[in-house]
Amino acid sequence: MKDLAIYPGTFDPLTLGHVDIIKRAARLFGRIIIAISAKPRKTTLFTAPERLAMAKSLCAQIPKVEADVFDGLLVDYIRAKGAHVIIRGLRAFSDFEYEFQMALTNRQMAPDIETLFMMTKESYSFLNSSMVREVAALGGDTAKFVPDFVQKELNKKTGIRSQKSGVRIQN
Ligand code: COA
Repeated sequence: MKDLAIYPGTFDPLTLGHVDIIKRAARLFGRIIIAISAKPRKTTLFTAPERLAMAKSLCAQIPKVEADVFDGLLVDYIRAKGAHVIIRGLRAFSDFEYEFQMALTNRQMAPDIETLFMMTKESYSFLNSSMVREVAALGGDTAKFVPDFVQKELNKKTGIRSQKSGVRIQN
């Protein structure tokens, strides 16, 4: 299926940086699947079903985008879906080495699958999920970093009931 691309990650949680990549990828492909790693190497704040539910809230807002959870090798999942393209976002030079290793490992296992890198929007180039989790855990306002439905879930998780109002960065 040539018009299908898979955007894999941990999404713990989904940030506005991820959303930007997803929206731009949706302009290039007929269909995008946000593929959530069920058991990533890192410990997660949100369970896989929770991360999936947040991704599904985003899918409800963007046509042609779906969300799913995968376990095991990414290339096996991609083949099972009949896809050939992995989308990854690059934020800074520091991402390059890890992404390069991952893309080449995947290519060794599945030469028919191509990794496509998209430059993250400048305004989100500093952002990652760990920082968002830390800001939330310490009672900071995450409105500039995540969609509102993610902020709600973060606040529930971290036990924060009231948030200062924040100005959202526009896409
Ligand atoms: N905007 C904001 N943040 C972004 C971002 C963007 N556009 N792109 C990445 N990030 C952040 C993430 O939030 C995450 O932050 P964190 O580490 O602080 O939590 C970090 O960059 C990288 O995370 P992510 O993009 O989710 O990738 P990952 O490294 O967690 O996920 C998998 C990697 C799941 C795709 C990979 O491990 C995998 O394929 N696993 C399956 C097993 C497999 O096949 N292994 C062999 C291949 S190497």
